[in-house]
Amino acid sequence: MKKLGIIGAMDVEVATLKNQMEKVTISSHAGMEFYEGILEKLPVVVVRCGVGKVNAAMCAQILCSCYGVTYLVNTGIAGSLCAEQDIGDLVVSRDAMYHDVDCSGFNYPVGQVPGMDVLTYPADETLMAYAFAAAEKINPGHTKIGRVASGDQFVCQKEKKENIIAVTQALCTEMEGAAIAHTAYRNAIPFVILRAISDKADASAEMDYPTFETIAAHRCAAVTSSLAHKLAEEEE
Ligand code: ADE
Repeated sequence: MKKLGIIGAMDVEVATLKNQMEKVTISSHAGMEFYEGILEKLPVVVVRCGVGKVNAAMCAQILCSCYGVTYLVNTGIAGSLCAEQDIGDLVVSRDAMYHDVDCSGFNYPVGQVPGMDVLTYPADETLMAYAFAAAEKINPGHTKIGRVASGDQFVCQKEKKENIIAVTQALCTEMEGAAIAHTAYRNAIPFVILRAISDKADASAEMDYPTFETIAAHRCAAVTSSLAHKLAEEEE
């Protein structure tokens, strides 16, 4: 049976989804509250993981090991790395990559974790297609599919932003997606990352982020519920 694990880093990213759920039971692991129930007729577990790669990976592993999820989605907000992408626009991951892993001294490309056989973690084609269709319905003409770059940094400097673009060629940057993708990859669980742009990841980010955080997070949550609806329809 299908079960979708939905991870957001912050309350604002998962609060509306929790409110839309039915038959909810709550359990705790590692200081995180897992909301298990039904969303859009689909069994789901919704959880706020906290900020950053370690919190995200722990959370994704708990969803795989303790809740038996069969899919993972990471929903939330991100800084744009692409000039044609504005605040409120949506990104669906084709793949995810770390921008802050550097073992180039041992001849690994920047981003690759030694011992892993991939540099980027590919998202599931079906989830990508469903997420794209859902995003286009909510904000037509404003969704891109591409790479998501993750690292333990809030990016708000032009130089840092340009370096991340040069290393990853990603569409947006955030702090959890690649860690969730990495965990999904090691557990052979299909995943997708869905992000709404809250800022431009440069000097304007510190102003824009607080202003657009809520709008962007809610937009992304709406796409996530629509994705759950699509997966549930498939089951019928
Ligand atoms: N999440 C939203 N905006 C971000 C940024 N500029 N850097 C990292 N994570 C983000």
